[in-house]
Amino acid sequence: MPTPLDTLNASFGLPGTLHFDEAAPGLPVAHITTPLASASIALQGAQVLTWQPTGQQPVLWVSKAAIFEEGKPVRGGVPVCWPWFGAVPGKPMHGFVRTRLWQLRGAELDAPGQVVLRLGIGDDVATHSLWDHAFDLELTVTVGSTLTLALTTRNTGTQAFEITQALHTYLCTTEITQTTVQGLDACHYLDKVQDFAPCQQSGAVTFQSETDRIYTDTTADSLIVDAAGGRNLRIAKQGSASTVVWNPWTDKEKTMADMACGEYRQMLCVETCNAGPDAVSIPAGGAHTLVAIISVE
Ligand code: BG6
Repeated sequence: MPTPLDTLNASFGLPGTLHFDEAAPGLPVAHITTPLASASIALQGAQVLTWQPTGQQPVLWVSKAAIFEEGKPVRGGVPVCWPWFGAVPGKPMHGFVRTRLWQLRGAELDAPGQVVLRLGIGDDVATHSLWDHAFDLELTVTVGSTLTLALTTRNTGTQAFEITQALHTYLCTTEITQTTVQGLDACHYLDKVQDFAPCQQSGAVTFQSETDRIYTDTTADSLIVDAAGGRNLRIAKQGSASTVVWNPWTDKEKTMADMACGEYRQMLCVETCNAGPDAVSIPAGGAHTLVAIISVE
């Protein structure tokens, strides 16, 4: 009797390029190795966990204390936050798709040698109890010398709905106090550290304390300058009107069981979002795609 893992490998495996194992019982992970890059993607949450272009250091950060358990969010990689970003009283933080098992819908090697995975999830009784709408959600992950994530929301119901969402990207950096984010100069933001106070950015974003900001009404690329590591990461985006920048710093880090002491210095989240006032309304039968394109410069 084949196991679900056997079935995944038989249906979607690409010898020498793509195979599946489990991070823990019931948590299948796709492992990709090509001449361009290596990557791993958990089917729970359709969560890209690692991505390392050939010749580069890892780009995505995962905590040493991350918890791999069915139904628990993993601290790192790119969690998909949907159909809401942030806290909703009485409901799971950042929505419900990051802790559910998605289906693998396709895996192929494209002409330029990138691996393209398509993962999807739809509504069911459990999702209706949290959010009473019919939907289809699909994430296409293209793994090459750049990493592209495209999240398409389809409204398969009969009434319009509204979503907020994030490709909640955890990035490696060498030393947070020597890291800056360019591209948000003059943007307005809501400062979650100051109870969502409206503020305006001046110059590059720098880090000296807990930082948790929703930059609104911005479609600009973010350039993450890792001065100590001597490299820049770029996140370009489409279908996104907000960018969230987050570092928990010391005190908040201590409250998180799935983050090890001092790790905040080597990580940073720059999230491709539609958050806060930038919610997206999708009519019945309509669709919306949120895209993040991550590259090393
Ligand atoms: C960020 C939020 O996107 O995610 C923060 O802006 C939050 O407020 C962080 O703390 C992590 O959230 P979680 O649920 O993964 O611990």
